[in-house]
Amino acid sequence: MKFILQPGKQVHVPGDSASFRQTPSRREFMGGALIAGAVAFLAPRGAQGAEAKVDVLINEPVGTISPNIYSHFVEHLGGVVYDGIWVGENSKIPNVGGIRRELVEHMRRIRPGVIRWPGGCFADQYDWRDGIGPREKRPRRVNFWADTNYKVTDSYKQLTDGPQKYEPNWFGTSEFMHFCRLAGAQPYFAANLRSLDARAFLEWIEYCNAPAGLTTLSDMRAAAGDREPYNVAYWGVGNESWGCGGDMLPEEYAERFRQFTAWAPTYQTTKLSYIATGPNGADVGWTRRFLSKLVEKGSGQVNKIHGLGLHYYCGTTGKGNALEYSEDEWYELIHRSDRMESLVSQHWMVMGESDPQHRVKLIVDEWGAWHLQDPGLPPGYLYGYPGTLRDALISAVNLDTFQRHADKVAMANPAQLINTIHSLFIAYDDKFVATPNFDVFEMYAAHSGAQSLRTEFVAPHVSYMRTVNNNRERAEFWGLAGSASLNGKRLTLTAVNPDIKAARETEINVIGARITMGQARVLTAADIHAHNSFANPKSMQPKDEQVTVGAGGKLVYRFAPASVTRLQLTLA
Ligand code: AHR
Repeated sequence: MKFILQPGKQVHVPGDSASFRQTPSRREFMGGALIAGAVAFLAPRGAQGAEAKVDVLINEPVGTISPNIYSHFVEHLGGVVYDGIWVGENSKIPNVGGIRRELVEHMRRIRPGVIRWPGGCFADQYDWRDGIGPREKRPRRVNFWADTNYKVTDSYKQLTDGPQKYEPNWFGTSEFMHFCRLAGAQPYFAANLRSLDARAFLEWIEYCNAPAGLTTLSDMRAAAGDREPYNVAYWGVGNESWGCGGDMLPEEYAERFRQFTAWAPTYQTTKLSYIATGPNGADVGWTRRFLSKLVEKGSGQVNKIHGLGLHYYCGTTGKGNALEYSEDEWYELIHRSDRMESLVSQHWMVMGESDPQHRVKLIVDEWGAWHLQDPGLPPGYLYGYPGTLRDALISAVNLDTFQRHADKVAMANPAQLINTIHSLFIAYDDKFVATPNFDVFEMYAAHSGAQSLRTEFVAPHVSYMRTVNNNRERAEFWGLAGSASLNGKRLTLTAVNPDIKAARETEINVIGARITMGQARVLTAADIHAHNSFANPKSMQPKDEQVTVGAGGKLVYRFAPASVTRLQLTLA
């Protein structure tokens, strides 16, 4: 269905399915630009002709977009580490010191912030001491995902013996650090809070960060080839401590957190940035109870926390297959992913109760869609599948949300980098393919480190049918949403048009500056199920377009149906 924006019609505030507001009247519609002193309607067709409008407010900065919003997550789960990342030095697969070369080359193109490792649920069963020293002498252990009550799919029952089931510890601390260096990323270690004690945690910090020659552990690191300390700053204190990380109450976790983080050594070189287990989706009770218990010891306790880890998976729709879905299921999943907007706002508000100055930021260290495993992959490659155009739009919806909330979100990591869930890559043996999620990360890296600007989108809704409690009901959400940032004279505007059929003709007003030239990069496809595969690795690729800027900096841009777009505009 195609809507034309009319005064008084309902529009949607991105992310909040409950919050609808009236579109501005025609007078308000024009007024925003006039009040800010800019030339009002730049579009050749004028206000009444355009379907949609974007106002970028140059003089309303939100905050610097942290490069860590473009971070990643790798866990010893299925085919992520063995053979997604680690193929071994003697492999026929091209590698750099055992790390898959094609992965390294692609990572460099997306300017990764940090990489989180070794889990996930695996982290709370992992002993870092198993993963150091000569590789051939390291112990084998049962992997968390091979022998657990966490029964998500049948495939876990079919795990064949091998590194996915019995962890060989070939990929440990030094191999992970090697991968980070190759990728150009900072390390983020998730420490075991459930099955190891605080001493093991402190000793891991010592192994990583103590200068060589000072302690037995730092000498062991030096003997393994890394004389220089790793200076690891980001430490996750447990993972999902409300679930696989210990089934704790928030109050119990607060006590454990205080013990683990009390007086940890910095070796005068590294400020330790702790990431506390945060809520599962909308569980504001966890956020409130954890922080209020923590500050019972004194308000200064919040100074220890760099960020609170929020996890939200928007799941899947229909039968759960990554490649098969109806148009309604396309809309429903994108709509669900947009819940990230309200999660960020709600938790932020609750965090302010114990931390009024908002020293603690949000770290969304697991996010994405989660479909069923592709039966074409080996059974051990748990939850592996090639993402489609739908997943790419979900990536863009999430990144735009983090960018809009640059003052609140300090880091974000999709789950996970390769071979599982919302991955950027799929690899099997010598085959490797980038998913459309990779393209979105490459496009959106232009926002990294830039100043997020308040940006208002006004567009007709998309409307679709969904099933709730066996009843079919109509649902709707925004028809264009995104974010903008400024870096010098370069404005980057990214946007998602979820409408499968309608392009969105949009007036773009930069209030407080004039557009002189522009370029677009667009990721879309004729088929909403489009994806890359081993057989056809370049089936869908983003395309570059020249943008025509009219006299006086006027810009009307047509956002393609079912697309992610990046506009790069030069301002005067
Ligand atoms: O990303 C897969 C799993 O999802 C992680 O191990 C866990 O933290 C979450 O439940």
